Amino acid sequence: EPTSLWGSRFSSGPAEAMAALSLSLHFDWRLARYDIAGSRAHARVLHRAGLLTDTELTGMLDALDTLERDVVDGTFTSVPADEDVHTALERGLIDRAGSALGGKLRAGRSRNDQIATLGRMYLRDAARLIAGGVLDVVAALISQADRHPNAPMPGRTHLQHAQPVLLAHHLLAHTQALLRNVDRLQDWDRRTAVSPYGSGALAGSSLGLDPAAVAEELGFDAPVENSIDGTASRDFAAEFAFVVAMIGVELSKVAEEVIIWTTAEFGYATLDDAWSTGSSIMPQKKNPDVAELARGKSGRMIGNLAGLLATLKAQPLAYNRDLQEDKEPVFDSIAQLELLLPAMAGMLGTLTFDTDRLAALAPAGFSLATDVAEWLVRAGVPFRDAHEAAGACVRAAEARGVGLEDLTDAEFALISPALTPEVRDVLTVAGSIASRDAYGGTAPRRVAEQRDRVVRRVEEY
Ligand code: ARG
Repeated sequence: EPTSLWGSRFSSGPAEAMAALSLSLHFDWRLARYDIAGSRAHARVLHRAGLLTDTELTGMLDALDTLERDVVDGTFTSVPADEDVHTALERGLIDRAGSALGGKLRAGRSRNDQIATLGRMYLRDAARLIAGGVLDVVAALISQADRHPNAPMPGRTHLQHAQPVLLAHHLLAHTQALLRNVDRLQDWDRRTAVSPYGSGALAGSSLGLDPAAVAEELGFDAPVENSIDGTASRDFAAEFAFVVAMIGVELSKVAEEVIIWTTAEFGYATLDDAWSTGSSIMPQKKNPDVAELARGKSGRMIGNLAGLLATLKAQPLAYNRDLQEDKEPVFDSIAQLELLLPAMAGMLGTLTFDTDRLAALAPAGFSLATDVAEWLVRAGVPFRDAHEAAGACVRAAEARGVGLEDLTDAEFALISPALTPEVRDVLTVAGSIASRDAYGGTAPRRVAEQRDRVVRRVEEY
């Protein structure tokens, strides 16, 4: 007969298919060390409430230490009859402390407040690791920006040529979005740093235990305000799943650009051999698999978020077994990011940009037309008329198959008398970029300032 935590009022053990359905060990075993940390804290509050003697507390803590060592070195493992990590570790404790002592630890706690607490502990640690991985991606982008502080590139909207920008400006845009997700993880942590331990099954404990002491020992800021909410809410998991999905989406956007940039048609950049793959049949191929896996895995992380939200929807208070389904989606998203973040940092940090090609393409597609219009505005022409005149320049250049800078003085004058030869000052990529000198703009000194602020933020995390 398996050591069940709840078997006494039943005349038979669970049916095989019932037990198979119930089993969560294959994914909650990773919570074992958090479970043991929770048990230590719980033993101490039982002792303080007079429910364990000094000797019993020492015996309990010794047994928990031994159990932890045995878990870490693999001497103690779970068996399927354990159902979940809490059951397995109680069995392990009773093996080591004897049932008279080991059986005392369960007083005043439930797997419901345990799992709600351990889930928060696990995700809080994971959030720190993920934030570190995101910062490594940010560092790779900054290193590329630093390698190319003044290189222009075509800036695009609708994927069409729009206005020239600095490559560094473009790369730093991705760092801003990534860093907002690090901020989100920190905000999330503040809300998640409350401990449900002491909530019991839902109603709280009658044994004079001190939830604040457990919370503090486990690294939380405070115990939960409401034991029903503490055992039943999983918005901490859903919010975590959102932030990691958002990180996935951001990586996917960078990845999509790398995929486009490394085509022969764009030719903006080349992938390092270590961060690309070949083809089993086409010897010439160099494929952006890292970027494609980023794009693909982001879909999976969005699915994990959507699935978790659907699981939580319409559950009555308090704990329901549905909540066991909160773990695999977030564990999976964490596992995907743990694979993806270092690979993205490696791929992005080792891209080789073809800055000559980027510079040559920067003025393509009449991307300096806005500069003509804004030059006219500075000369006192209303923007409406200026826009029209610049548009007429584009039409004239397009008809002749030349660039804006190739129009003659006479052609300019015919379009608008305000278009004097001085307009040529802004018909260079460097002139255009330098002119966008407002805060946050693409002018080199503004980009350099922004780069310094990003670096400072990274250092402050
Ligand atoms: N394994 C469960 C979970 O992950 C925790 C145990 C609570 N089970 C119960 N029947 N009350 O949510």
